[in-house]
Formats: sequence, structure tokens, C-alpha cells
Amino acid sequence: QVSVGVMTSGGDSPGMNSAIRAVVRETLRRNYRCYLIREGYAGLISGKIDEANWSSVANITHIGGSFIGTSRCDEFRTYDGRKKAAKQMYERQMFNLVVIGGDGSLTGAQKLKEDWMKIGEELFAEGNIKLDVANKGRELRLVGIVGSIDNDCIETDKSIGSDSALHRICESIDGLVMTAQSHQRIFVIEVMGRHCGYLALTSGIAVEADFVFYPEMSLEENWADKLCQQLETVRKLGKRHNIIIIGEGCKNAKGEKFDAKLVKSEIENRMTAEVRTVSLGHLQRGGTPTFLDRLLGLRMGYNAVKELLRVDKDGKPFTGSQNNASVICLRGHTIKQQSLDKVLRKVEQANDEIKHGNVEK
Ligand code: F6P
Repeated sequence: QVSVGVMTSGGDSPGMNSAIRAVVRETLRRNYRCYLIREGYAGLISGKIDEANWSSVANITHIGGSFIGTSRCDEFRTYDGRKKAAKQMYERQMFNLVVIGGDGSLTGAQKLKEDWMKIGEELFAEGNIKLDVANKGRELRLVGIVGSIDNDCIETDKSIGSDSALHRICESIDGLVMTAQSHQRIFVIEVMGRHCGYLALTSGIAVEADFVFYPEMSLEENWADKLCQQLETVRKLGKRHNIIIIGEGCKNAKGEKFDAKLVKSEIENRMTAEVRTVSLGHLQRGGTPTFLDRLLGLRMGYNAVKELLRVDKDGKPFTGSQNNASVICLRGHTIKQQSLDKVLRKVEQANDEIKHGNVEK
């Protein structure tokens, strides 16, 4: 009996439930067994794993977050942690795994894959009676789905959750604009995104922000003067309010944290204006998924199972160039799969470029 495990890991994101639903339903439709791994890698290690049935995933596409729970798990970073996780999988004969999460979670999955054979040998050598010898030397097949509001994985045009987060950011800022206009105030707003400026930049365009600070930009020495000139220019043109967005992860030229409080005080030193700061925080990550994230989750979940259970022309499990580990990506409007290795290499490269300031503006 083929068994597929599905889990979410790292920060939750709206639309993850759709992905879980599609993985479960497509696996069951093929008459295979599907396991729900609860609380991320922590649950995989401790065995918080339940068999799913058709109704386990009913009525969940409209709910944000991850209904099976997620976590950031330090133990899984260790070989021993991964060995405990693998043991749970061997005991259930679960050799197919779908991991839904950000780059950290997919890196964890890759590590499990790298250690898998060695761990298998050790487990059999230790003589665990729950293990079936027929499974000695069995490969792990792995598929990743990028679920993160940050949209920071370079190989997919969209990660699950980023559209919903943007929707929430825009809605919140639209509300702030109303009160800002009434009082002729300046609002400095912090948005999430870790090291990636996607949420800051794209929401900035959509809400007609006057200035956006994002982590990939190199801040000029005189940034505060330039900012205030810009604010004064638009005020002269009749604008009654200003919106400034700061992406999480912004740093100044000295590499120091750069936040809304700092921007507020620099403006107040230069202009007579009422400035307020707002950090949208986890409100951006919670809440109902948009249509696009529901659809993306469903498409990616379905394609993850298709990829996992791909067979060659003789009906044997496909072992192609993907090294049995791939990531489901969106390119334009098309779902494509990429090798996990390649995706993680590209992400690392992009993060390096951001760190060293070589990003194409
Ligand atoms: O990766 C998603 C994200 O929301 C980031 O934008 C943010 O930096 C981080 O997670 C916050 O993590 P936590 O919920 O653990 O505070």
C-alpha cells in the first residue's frame, strides 16, 4: 500500500489548507493511504500523525492558517531529530512526503532526504521490530510546495499566501488613509516579508504610497532629506496625507535595524507634521485566503501528488533527473516542477546577493 504524508512547516499562510485538501483527496482518489502530520516537523518527530479520510479535509478551503498545525522546529535541524522523524515514517511505511512551507522548511526536507538512506541502514541494524525488511533500502520521495506570505522563493512566481497577505495589507492601509486624510497626517507602516521586499513594494504600488523602504535597497546617506522633499512635493500638489511603507528586514548603511520609529523621528526633525506609526504584524498572515490562494493551493497540492506518484512507462515509480525531490512552482499561469536542489541553490544565491547588496533594482 502506497502512503503519502502531508505536513505544513514554518510560518502558516492562507491557502495552505487548500493544498492539504488537494493532497489528501488526490491520494485517496488513487486508493492510496494519506497521513496528516500535525504540528510540522515537531509532530513528525513525536508521531503526531493521523490517517486521513475523505471528510478530514471537508470545509477547509475558506479557512486561513494550517488546520493541521505548523511549527518552527529546532530538533529537526539535528541528525538525531531527523532520525526520529524517519523512524516514524518507516514504521508507517510512509515513503512519500509533501512538505508545505518556506525555504527553511524545504531545506529541512532536503536534509532528511540526504540522510534518509544512512538513517534507514541504522534503523534496520538496530533491529526495530516494527520495520518491515521488505522496505530496507527504500527511497524517500519528496515534493515541496512553497507556502509563505513572503513570496521570497525565486523559482515560483507566487507562493501560497502572499496574495492574501497583500489583500490584507491593502485593506488595512486603505483604512489608515481615511483617518490620515482627515487629520492630514503621515503614517509610517511596517509590513512583513523577512529579507524580501515583495510585500512592501507591491502593496506600496497598490495603495499609492509616497515612499517604500525595502530590504534589498541600499539606503543613501541623505535618505531622510530625500524622503521629506518627496513628502513636501506631494503635499504642495494637494495631497492631504502620506503613506510610507517599511519592509521588515530593512537595515541602514551600517547594517543597523531600520524601523518605523526611526523614520518617524527623522521626519519630525525636518518637518512640522503629525506622524503616526503602525506595525501590521501577524494580521497580515491570518484571515481568510483569497480566491487566488485557494486555487493556487489546490493546484499545487494536486500536482504534488501527481509528481510524487509519477510512474515510468513500465508502471514503476519514476526516477528521473529530479532525484526524487522536487518543488511545485508557478511560472506565469502554468504549474511546473523544479528539482529541490536547484530551487534551494537559487534561493541561497538570491539571499547572498541581497546580503552583499548586488541586487538588480
Ligand atoms: O515567513 C513568514 C513570516 O511571517 C515573515 O514575514 C516574518 O518575518 C516571520 O514569518 C514571523 O515569524 P513568527 O510568526 O515566528 O514571528
